[in-house]
Amino acid sequence: MTKIVSPSLLSCDFMNIETELKQFDSAKDIWFHLDIMDGHFVPNLTFGNPIIKMISKLSKHPLDAHFMVSNPAFYIETLKDVPLHNFTFHYEAASTPLELVKEAKMHFPSVGISIKPGTPFESLSDDLLSEIDLLLVMSVEPGFGGQSFIEGTWDKLEQIRVKKLANSYDFSVQIDGGVSNKNAEDLFAAGATNLVAGSYVFKNGPSEYLNQINSLRENN
Ligand code: DX5
Ligand code: ZN
Repeated sequence: MTKIVSPSLLSCDFMNIETELKQFDSAKDIWFHLDIMDGHFVPNLTFGNPIIKMISKLSKHPLDAHFMVSNPAFYIETLKDVPLHNFTFHYEAASTPLELVKEAKMHFPSVGISIKPGTPFESLSDDLLSEIDLLLVMSVEPGFGGQSFIEGTWDKLEQIRVKKLANSYDFSVQIDGGVSNKNAEDLFAAGATNLVAGSYVFKNGPSEYLNQINSLRENN
């Protein structure tokens, strides 16, 4: 199993985004995680399409876009020509999630559904689980970086592991929020294949970005 780490650019220095992205040029098996917040689905606002397009021109790694927005259909439509590798939107924001996943799959190689900590995994239909490429399990309330990992995530991961095995679903499992070297090894062991990390990757400055990433995969 390839262990992907997705540095969340929410924690990078946006005034120097080009230099920041360059620090990761030699990294292996990383995706850049873009947190798009609309100030409506979550009580915070980050960036929208112009910045996403700019980053897509600079990035040497697959882009992983996490839409914390009330209207994901708008972003599917307006970003369909932008080379995002993965397009994830929130289950809670979609009245017809299966239709939206099918629509997004026409434009992006990978499509994910995200669930907030309070949304039970059982809410997701078998049809939806068969269709998605990625399930993003939020391990903090979406909206802000630097929060503490919610322990209830472990039970959710176990339910997902059991159901994936029983049904041979092939979606990958991504965890987002409060990831550090304290829980990364256990998260991979519990079935996660992709860990998003913002504050942990960026906290010690550019010279340490790659070491921080490696420390999430060590001993795994
Ligand atoms: C939170 C975002 C996360 C956030 C993670 O709403 O979805 O991607 O950047 O930040 P850390 O790793 O600091 O918890
Ligand atoms: Zn995120």
